[in-house]
Amino acid sequence: MANSNDDPETHGIERPMGRVFADIAAERLSRRAVLAGATAAGVAAAMPSEAQTRRNALRFADASSDLDANDHVSPGYKRQVVLRWGDPLFADAPDFDPGSQTGAKQERQFGYNNDFMWFFPLPYGSRSSTRGLLHANHEYCNGNLMFPGIGERGNQTKAQCEVEMAAHGLSTVEIAKIDGAWRIVKDSRYNRRLSAAGSAFRVSGPAAGHPRLRSNEDRTGTLVVGTLNNCAGGVTPWGTVLSGEENFNGYFGGDASKTPEAANHRRYGVSPWQGAPWANYFERFQVETNWNEPNRFGWVVEYDPYDPQSTPVKRTALGRFKHEGATCVVCPDGRVAVYSGDDERFEYVYRFVTRGTYDPKNRRANRDLLDDGTLSVAQFQTDGTLRWLQLVHGQGPLTAANGFTSQADVLIEARRAADLVGATPMDRPEDVETDPVTGRTYVVCTYNERRAAADASDARTRANGPNPRADNRTGHIVEMIPPGGRGSRADHAADVFRWDILLLAGDPNDPAARTKYGPGVGPHGWVAAPDNIAFDPKGRMWIATDGMPTQAVPARSDGVFATELEGPGRAVTKRLYGAPSGAEVCGPCFTPDGKTLFLAIQHPGEARGSNFENPSTRWPDFRPDMPPRPSVVAIEKIDGGEIGS
Ligand code: FEO
Ligand code: CA
Ligand code: CA
Ligand code: CA
Repeated sequence: MANSNDDPETHGIERPMGRVFADIAAERLSRRAVLAGATAAGVAAAMPSEAQTRRNALRFADASSDLDANDHVSPGYKRQVVLRWGDPLFADAPDFDPGSQTGAKQERQFGYNNDFMWFFPLPYGSRSSTRGLLHANHEYCNGNLMFPGIGERGNQTKAQCEVEMAAHGLSTVEIAKIDGAWRIVKDSRYNRRLSAAGSAFRVSGPAAGHPRLRSNEDRTGTLVVGTLNNCAGGVTPWGTVLSGEENFNGYFGGDASKTPEAANHRRYGVSPWQGAPWANYFERFQVETNWNEPNRFGWVVEYDPYDPQSTPVKRTALGRFKHEGATCVVCPDGRVAVYSGDDERFEYVYRFVTRGTYDPKNRRANRDLLDDGTLSVAQFQTDGTLRWLQLVHGQGPLTAANGFTSQADVLIEARRAADLVGATPMDRPEDVETDPVTGRTYVVCTYNERRAAADASDARTRANGPNPRADNRTGHIVEMIPPGGRGSRADHAADVFRWDILLLAGDPNDPAARTKYGPGVGPHGWVAAPDNIAFDPKGRMWIATDGMPTQAVPARSDGVFATELEGPGRAVTKRLYGAPSGAEVCGPCFTPDGKTLFLAIQHPGEARGSNFENPSTRWPDFRPDMPPRPSVVAIEKIDGGEIGS
């Protein structure tokens, strides 16, 4: 199906991919200009009119929030299962058979626990909404749902560990909408699997080749086998994926306290850790003999889905922590800002700003833009000010006196560097993403039941401005407001922003929950444990949740919600989708026309007591010989209109 004309490098005119922020804002502004009969220059500065707000109003009824074995969509919508764990991605790939799965088979099939996704239109530079490359991260495995006989502590065999390693990583698969349904194109030259087992990842940036990145596997510190725990992510303006390596610590066995990296590993939670079965069979994951190996994970991976021969790159300039994801926005001067949350209780929000500028006319010129720039961390003041504190070797406390002998040390131990400069501890910051219309950036704090009261003695854990609720079981969303103006005028490289709280999640009808919403949230429309967000072509926020079955009172299914960000619909959430038992929803992304919403349904059946033999659901196949399978679904309006219209 694919042809060489799709190759971005062969195009005479280079264009950014997909729904890149500046494009979305520009398109919306131009529509507005036509409507208002105004000049482009006049409209660029205009605030949305009342008519504009109404035109963008969300017009769907809440889906059911019931927690049961199946999923639920709003009335007037349909959903199609597009891809499931084990589906063959190549013409010669074997069909999925849970009873005879091997690592070699899994390397040719869709991986487990799909998280971040993006739809890259084909051909490159087009706005096709019917043919494209679907990228997916595969974050982790539920061994007890994948294989029979696995206990809580993880007693996988070596062969089962090989399946798990192959089920991690990244997938790219061409998809096309044919006769009204999404199909995968198995003979596409773009289809690719990258895993934790054997795929090579290059290391670049200031920490590449550093002695602390050299391991028994790789004496150069420049080449890593595999990627781990790829959670959320983003896309660059030049059409590559940024994939966050999140909870990399859980794969390592042995006692890190006996090693030269003891303090570093303690800060990231690397061992001693029970339940790291790979370490039983693969020396790579034994930290006592291979103590630098964990330093080779926890990075942002850049990956080019349009070049199946390319080697993905770990970009060390963006720092090492438990990256939920990484999202880009172009600054008015052409530099690129990349935001990333470190998803653990009391960790931080980071921003990287490139030294060079984005070249929209020459894709190759942007290839190594993310290797050189400045990493900063957010400090929120109680007066509504937000300061970005630079993490630069030699500045302030980041010197040899504190164990930082180079920028590589600062990046490898970004958490400790951020501690020393005075970053603000957050309630598990997950996605951080920018509204293309207003230029405001949102930090999704999923929840933190360990947040103490504002008068607690420990400054690190007590409630603070952007994390105002003690015992925060339901999470919230912080709004960061850069200076400079709306949309593409917003200066994301500035040292000082303002901030606000968009919403405090939970049941708005429960006074004890101390929520913050706009008026009119319905009984199925409220949100808890927000995690990933996405913006549709009209700039409305879509929120995927992870934890409503345990964090919401009363328990609700995880789901997908939408809210407007301005006008009377601001922070008035509505539910479009409810996930099956045990599943969270990840990876919301739209086709350029806004008519298909892809969702990653992760870990269906994950619950206490649920296992391969007796899962809490067998979604989506509901066959007695099939376990539950993490899957990609496509949500569409039955009448073919835009999602949310
Ligand atoms: Fe992998 Fe923070 O979610
Ligand atoms: Ca997440
Ligand atoms: Ca997102
Ligand atoms: Ca989460």
